[in-house]
Amino acid sequence: MQPNKRGAGIPASATLTISAKARQMTAAGVDVVNFGVGQPDFPTPPHIVEAAVTALQGGAHGYTPTAGTPAIREAVAANLSKLSAVDYAPTSVFVSNGAKQCLHNLIQVLVDPGDEVVVPSPFWVSYEPIVQLAGGVMKLLPTHLADGFKLTPDQLREAITERTKVLILNSPSNPTGAAYSAAELEALAEVVLAHPHLAVVSDEIYRRLTYDGFTHVSFAGLSPETAARTFVVDGVSKAYAMTGWRIGYAAGPAEVIAAAIRYQDHTTSCASAGSQAAAVAALTGDQTPVATMLKAFTERRAVVLERIAAMDGVSVHPPQGAFYAFCDLQGLGPVGEDDGPFCDNLLAQAHVAAVPGYAFGAPGHVRISFACGMDRLVEGLDRFERFIHENPRNPQR
Ligand SMILES: Cc1ncc(COP(=O)(O)O)c(C=O)c1O
Repeated sequence: MQPNKRGAGIPASATLTISAKARQMTAAGVDVVNFGVGQPDFPTPPHIVEAAVTALQGGAHGYTPTAGTPAIREAVAANLSKLSAVDYAPTSVFVSNGAKQCLHNLIQVLVDPGDEVVVPSPFWVSYEPIVQLAGGVMKLLPTHLADGFKLTPDQLREAITERTKVLILNSPSNPTGAAYSAAELEALAEVVLAHPHLAVVSDEIYRRLTYDGFTHVSFAGLSPETAARTFVVDGVSKAYAMTGWRIGYAAGPAEVIAAAIRYQDHTTSCASAGSQAAAVAALTGDQTPVATMLKAFTERRAVVLERIAAMDGVSVHPPQGAFYAFCDLQGLGPVGEDDGPFCDNLLAQAHVAAVPGYAFGAPGHVRISFACGMDRLVEGLDRFERFIHENPRNPQR
């Protein structure tokens, strides 16, 4: 039995594939340093776990309302309202099984077959399948290390056609760590607002993880006009070390949010009740653990940047947010252009798992996640450097 064309066309997630390979090797007794994985190495803070235990012991065993419990919708609305020029009502929020499912729901109810979705590239690996599953057409707008991997208003203006329905903005970005300032977003907003048929899906999942004093700005928060066009997507996975709890949420204009909730009625019904209680504790409780994790990421980021700067042929733009270093390998010569085999060989020979740039639309790069402990980070960077020295040109041939 074969899947249909749509099923056959869905690519495996490069990040999950590399993590699975690394796990298999680890299970077989190989000491692998996993730079592939996009999740904090910290446990979920205890007060959040306790909130879930209390909820479960108190009987939170059933379905919740599709869009989330009243408590979580209220907590999310209050939290996101701090970001925005308008107050989000709890009814303009829905909660889902991770930010990933929020993105799915929104794209399914915003994009008709043949509609274009504009995405700055490099881009997060799941955007393309999410758009394609809705019948949409990805229009990639390349950005480069030299420009800090940021989309310019001119690029956006030139890309928009009558069929362009959505701009996906991801700030801070996975994989590049690029984060847009208020002035940069305002310049993009001018273009967006000139096209009334264009919505913005603003993926802000890394908004709490920024560096060097960078203050996150939400596209929705620029003005009531941008808020009326924007669907903010966020969640607890990254900042609260809760990737496995599967809670994300989105907020935006009412009719589309209502459609996204109806879509969820018929797909997953709701997010897990216990996880929703945990997420309420994350959003409303003590924020010290977020600061503690951010401090650790900041220290690791400094180490990665220092070590990469000392490696001939490898360059990196300092990430302003998230926990990835997106390294340009093109200075290594042909090796860099072929990043798939580069990463295969890096894993096979040096036992370091990292994600090839082509998965993010940027061949010739490699993404290193520094969401791993400092010891492992240093060990992995040592191996990475040795691998480059030992394979100065093209290690796969
Ligand atoms: C840019 C981006 N958006 C969304 C997600 C999905 O997050 P969640 O775990 O909440 O589904 C990720 C996870 O890697 C991500 O990197």
